[in-house]
Amino acid sequence: MDEFVCKTRIISGPGAVAALKDFGAKRVFLVTDPFFYENGTAARVAAAAKAEQVEIFHNVRPDPTVELAAEGTAKLRAFGPDLIVALGGGSAMDCAKAMAFFAKGDAPLVAIPTTSGSGSEVTDFAILTHNKVKHPLVDKRLRPDAAILDSDLLEKLPPSLVADSGFDVLAHAVESYVATGAGVFTDALAREAFQRAYGALPASFAGHQEVRLTIHQAATMAGMSFTQAGLGLCHAMAHSLGGLFHIPHGRLNAILLPSVVACNAHVAGKKYADLARSTGMGGSADTIAVRNLRNNLIRLRRELKLPETLAQAGVEPRSVWSATKEIVDATLADPCCKTNPMTVEDFLVRRILEEVTGRV
Ligand SMILES: NC(=O)c1ccc[n+]([C@@H]2O[C@H](COP(=O)([O-])OP(=O)(O)OC[C@H]3O[C@@H](n4cnc5c(N)ncnc54)[C@H](O)[C@@H]3O)[C@@H](O)[C@H]2O)c1
Ligand SMILES: [Fe+2]
Repeated sequence: MDEFVCKTRIISGPGAVAALKDFGAKRVFLVTDPFFYENGTAARVAAAAKAEQVEIFHNVRPDPTVELAAEGTAKLRAFGPDLIVALGGGSAMDCAKAMAFFAKGDAPLVAIPTTSGSGSEVTDFAILTHNKVKHPLVDKRLRPDAAILDSDLLEKLPPSLVADSGFDVLAHAVESYVATGAGVFTDALAREAFQRAYGALPASFAGHQEVRLTIHQAATMAGMSFTQAGLGLCHAMAHSLGGLFHIPHGRLNAILLPSVVACNAHVAGKKYADLARSTGMGGSADTIAVRNLRNNLIRLRRELKLPETLAQAGVEPRSVWSATKEIVDATLADPCCKTNPMTVEDFLVRRILEEVTGRV
């Protein structure tokens, strides 16, 4: 049996933020980060809702903590909105989703992503950090009611953010394509997302605005895929390493993904090969197509000037070695491990960790 649920209304295109007025809200609570508050984008977006009253919560920092979400929840409850708007990358959207969930109100949540990466605008996940550990909350009630994909918000995306969040999209597509929960609908979305993001990332990195909507839509498609199919070992490790070392989430995926593909290929080779061939990477035998997929990910990672190891990302190998047990335990406890195509065991995590740590 194959089930696919699509709850989020998706509005996309240049200037799509104008659709906020259609929600007919009187009291809008907008959640964002200091960047969008200080440059006036938050006020401009809130004004598009044509509401009578607006409150802006603008304290979100990358990788939001449980404490921050609790502070925001109290403010949200006290204001009593009839519409909640999340504006920003995965961090602002996750924080807003968690706040809306904990506040237990009935105001709809509209997510407006400003990076093309997390897919949080359509997922049942919200990732909060507590005591240096990233905890994915997973609940159907976390899924936003609407997503507005406005490419005008992407004009100032710096190349490094295009690269980091772009590799998050690729990791969502690749991992959900082979995840244990994958089905015919998630496969179609993951394949399309991968092809779009893989093809358009170099041009977006070079500053070409015209491809940005393509990657923005790909990020949402990959989110629709992984929220149903699940993710895998790459994300489980990215969560455990991200909690400890505060490296951007997508950058960690870029470091980990080629090694995870090589490791899962024993059981997921056929599907990886299918993904490689459908993206024009060739390879008549499955083993060659998988090798092409892995090599092309490594080549793209170089082209986007992303690090290949944790050491190149600024993490002292010694601090990885001394935290190995913590990293392995957090990885094994992460819900993403459960949907990895191959059973994840202690030695596998250690092997990949060794491979990605890099030299002193
Ligand atoms: N909920 C989910 O389904 C899900 C999935 C994947 C990742 N995540 C989470 O999302 C977070 C990562 O999200 P992200 O990669 O979108 O980054 P982010 O939200 O952490 O933002 C990173 C930085 O980019 C800046 N920024 C955002 N948009 C910008 C723009 N248009 N122009 C210039 N600067 C901009 C922000 O101000 C911030 O300083 C991680 O915490 C990760 O765990 C969640
Ligand atoms: Fe991710």
